[in-house]
Amino acid sequence: MHNYSAPAHLLKDRIILVTGAGDGIGKVAAKTFAQYGATVILLGKTLDKLEVVYDEIEQANGPQPAIYPMNLEGATSKDYEDMQTTLDDEFGRLDGILHNAALLGSLMPISQYDMGHWGKVMQVNLNAPYMLTRICLPLLEKSASASVVFTSDDVGIKGKAYWGAYGISKAAGDNLMQILADEMEVNTPIRFNSINPGKVATTMRSKAFPGENPATIAAPDDIMNSYLYLMGDDSKAVNGQIINAQP
Ligand SMILES: NC(=O)c1ccc[n+]([C@@H]2O[C@H](COP(=O)([O-])OP(=O)(O)OC[C@H]3O[C@@H](n4cnc5c(N)ncnc54)[C@H](OP(=O)(O)O)[C@@H]3O)[C@@H](O)[C@H]2O)c1
Repeated sequence: MHNYSAPAHLLKDRIILVTGAGDGIGKVAAKTFAQYGATVILLGKTLDKLEVVYDEIEQANGPQPAIYPMNLEGATSKDYEDMQTTLDDEFGRLDGILHNAALLGSLMPISQYDMGHWGKVMQVNLNAPYMLTRICLPLLEKSASASVVFTSDDVGIKGKAYWGAYGISKAAGDNLMQILADEMEVNTPIRFNSINPGKVATTMRSKAFPGENPATIAAPDDIMNSYLYLMGDDSKAVNGQIINAQP
């Protein structure tokens, strides 16, 4: 779907929550969704970064966004309940969630993988999307057509040496997406899919591949067609799929 061409008002009046909206792919996705008409809820760890995204959306005359600062590493079930209540009070429903926030963790053999680090990566990359999706299901059910998008990775699709908790969290995230898609295929307005971004020049990518010249790979802006496709109604019949954002 990398060559999808979105109509200008694809996401008009839609309310979309983006996690990790302060940087990298999430930042560009949030701004792109707003550009196509969505009211975006910017969830992330670093308030300053979220404020920059907020200002950029306002300056581009996008629909007024909302900021929800939340550290997914330490968030408790009470934090998720509070978030659900706030979103319900403010918006009354959700039309989309992009599960984008992630922690790379350490790249090392399993034999040496730090157990504390393992827990943090699983908390942000897997437990958080699970808890967030579960708590938000009643809000998604109030949408005429809701899209929940998980973020996949090549190293989750096929296990690769040294990718440790990150790779496993991505594999499990895709499985969670498929379970939800299967369970809710009938009689709900919600569809669940994953997007595999491919190589994209971000802070995370340069941490994983410090020697790589970022100019030689895609920028977040280059992969937005697939994000728009999955968030908008042109993908209404697509459920349980892993979509590649690059050819
Ligand atoms: N870039 C690639 O080549 C590539 C390839 C395949 C898959 N992906 C996936 O694409 C998604 C976006 O990655 P990216 O490359 O854009 O990474 P990034 O530049 O490192 O951005 C990650 C975002 O997640 C947020 N985040 C991290 N820990 C968090 C926490 N505890 N609570 C809340 N937010 C947290 C970060 O917030 P702060 O900035 O405030 O820390 C940041 O906004 C990830 O799911 C990643 O696994 C990326």
